[in-house]
Amino acid sequence: MENKTLGEFIIENQNAFKYSSGELSRILNSIRLAAKVVNHKVNKAGLVDILGSAGNKNVQDEDQKKLDILANEIFIQTLINREIVCGIASEENENFINVEGHNNENKNKYIVLIDPLDGSSNIDVNVSVGTIFSVFRRTSPLGSPVNLNDFLQKGVNQVAAGYVIYGTSTMLVYTTGHGVNGFTLNPAIGTFYLSHPKMTYKKNGHIYSLNEGNYIHFPEAIKNYVKYCQLEEGDRPYTSRYIGSLVSDFHRNIIKGGIYLYPSSKKKPKGKLRLLYECNPMAFIAEQAGGKASDGFNRIMEVSPKELHERIPFYCGSYNMVKKLESFMKKYQ
Ligand code: AHG
Ligand code: MN
Ligand code: MN
Repeated sequence: MENKTLGEFIIENQNAFKYSSGELSRILNSIRLAAKVVNHKVNKAGLVDILGSAGNKNVQDEDQKKLDILANEIFIQTLINREIVCGIASEENENFINVEGHNNENKNKYIVLIDPLDGSSNIDVNVSVGTIFSVFRRTSPLGSPVNLNDFLQKGVNQVAAGYVIYGTSTMLVYTTGHGVNGFTLNPAIGTFYLSHPKMTYKKNGHIYSLNEGNYIHFPEAIKNYVKYCQLEEGDRPYTSRYIGSLVSDFHRNIIKGGIYLYPSSKKKPKGKLRLLYECNPMAFIAEQAGGKASDGFNRIMEVSPKELHERIPFYCGSYNMVKKLESFMKKYQ
């Protein structure tokens, strides 16, 4: 294959940043490394004792899988060991981590938020899972410990975001605000190659993805939108596809065109997905690929976060589909 490698691509694009010191490139490089390690573990999941529940719950009262914990450790340790970030927040940790680095200097400028293993309920059944990450510049002064406000920034401030999908092949997809590019891992040599340059959504897709089992608990607007998707009219009915891991559902929709929905419901008034390490990074990627991401009324990336593990309804995908969904939200408010 003559394609560019991810390593080459990162270096080439480093110059697109004003005042670049190479710090962001080093973060992307260590995420690339951690992704390869996690990929190696995920691939062996049925062979060694890493399937199943770890027997404890995370802060969000969700069952932690062994691979949730393992992936969390791998990403955090890789970022800490290389002394390239000043703070990390993860789905699996109640509080953010302050990374002091060499001589306790706190001299790095970036923080990372991460969902180390997304779709973990799919691990045990050999269905694709993923990793999601989001990178911000710190707001607190260099040389001081990070604080909660460094993490509670609006999504519009993201400097990079991406995901890894451990699927039939393993891919790393990311943006630094100059479009979206996808890289596929050649497992034989352990190198990611540029396989999906300049990823873009179709303006109108034909797939809708949501957990329809919750239908009865959905707001009127969503019930009506689902019926709209199923109606025989124009280019409808749409196809329904739901894997149950955001990364995989998102990845399919960005390639084929579609909308992903995780609405609020009577049981989950704020939906399920977390604003900071699931919705914001996916929203950044979606917009950079010409799509749209909304909470039904507002642009996801303009929402002001109040808490680290905050949840929010999430609608994302092909531009016109999300726009249509918003018109239903408005009409049946
Ligand atoms: P996680 O495994 O990181 O907790 O995320 C699971 C999320 C997301 O990946 C997926 O889209 C959604 O949960 C599925 O939820 P339902 O099972 O309620 O449909
Ligand atoms: Mn997740
Ligand atoms: Mn997770």
